[in-house]
Amino acid sequence: MSLAFSPVSIGSLRLKNRIVLPPMQQYQGSAEGFAGAYHRDHYARRARGGVGLVIVESTAVAPEGRLMIDDVGLFSEAHVAPLAAVASAVKAAGAPVFVQLCHGGRKAVPHRGGRLLAPSAVAYDDVYGMPEAMSLADIAAAAEAFAMAAKRAVAAGFDGIELHAAHGYLLHQFLSPLSNHREDAYGGGPEGRLRFLAGVICSVRAAVGMSLPVTIRVSASDHAPGGLEPESVAAALRALVPLGLDAIHVSSGGLTPTPPPETGPGYQVRYAEVIRRAVAVPVIAVGQIRTREQVEDILAQGRADLVAIGRPLLIYPDLSRVL
Ligand SMILES: Cc1cc2nc3c(=O)[nH]c(=O)nc-3n(C[C@H](O)[C@H](O)[C@H](O)COP(=O)(O)O)c2cc1C
Repeated sequence: MSLAFSPVSIGSLRLKNRIVLPPMQQYQGSAEGFAGAYHRDHYARRARGGVGLVIVESTAVAPEGRLMIDDVGLFSEAHVAPLAAVASAVKAAGAPVFVQLCHGGRKAVPHRGGRLLAPSAVAYDDVYGMPEAMSLADIAAAAEAFAMAAKRAVAAGFDGIELHAAHGYLLHQFLSPLSNHREDAYGGGPEGRLRFLAGVICSVRAAVGMSLPVTIRVSASDHAPGGLEPESVAAALRALVPLGLDAIHVSSGGLTPTPPPETGPGYQVRYAEVIRRAVAVPVIAVGQIRTREQVEDILAQGRADLVAIGRPLLIYPDLSRVL
């Protein structure tokens, strides 16, 4: 019996199988961050290909939070209708659809001269440059931006939300001791570094209610001395999940320019396994998962509950061609 093609639930949502299209930027947004026909066709095609869940790419919650100048956003009411066309096309093609909400923080390309924001004035590299340490008002505004974008995602018809707390973007920057040097309530130790994420989850829940699936993508290791490790991320998630998370998507890296020490088939599954032991919600593994046998082994051994397959589905949208 195939485990990959057995159903699973994320919160209140039943998925027909356990294969997820992970969020992958398409660099096709308009200058103002609007989705278009490209996004509608791209995501609907992959839904038709058979995946159990489509997660639409990193979508900016604020103009200064875009990761690239051609990223899509949900930072105004005008962004809702173009993304509603994407969501309804994906659902009509047979898969539920989430959107990944993101603020790039110090790794953003601020729109039209906006500010480069981060928990602390610590640069990622010389190209992005030195960010401004966020004031308490900036922190409150960023949490509100996540909540407003979440509300717009519901209005656009998405079935759920993934909060992007991986790959060195703003939520991750608050969590990691390497990028959060604050001494106030939002830093100073593991509990303080969690506070912004907790605030974002609570604001999003207040905006969308408790029944919409809300998930989070984390980097389970910074691959850097003194940075986050799977155990510290697991401890953080133990505190965050009860605030209203329905699944955890486990990636790694991105906080510093240093690449991971070793990559290879399924190299991040060992992180998913640690997180899965720590939390009672489903865990999605991702990263160089390529064969049917690999997927079945990951699921059979209880290392994750779902698996995401990224780059192969960009090339071959039909699941039957990649598994
Ligand atoms: C073109 C491209 C764009 C990506 N954009 C995002 C993104 O928007 N959000 C995100 O969390 N990860 C993003 N990723 C990472 C993927 O979601 C995934 O974790 C990664 O490709 C590893 O999975 P794979 O080996 O199956 O491709 C992107 C990857 C690629 C190749």
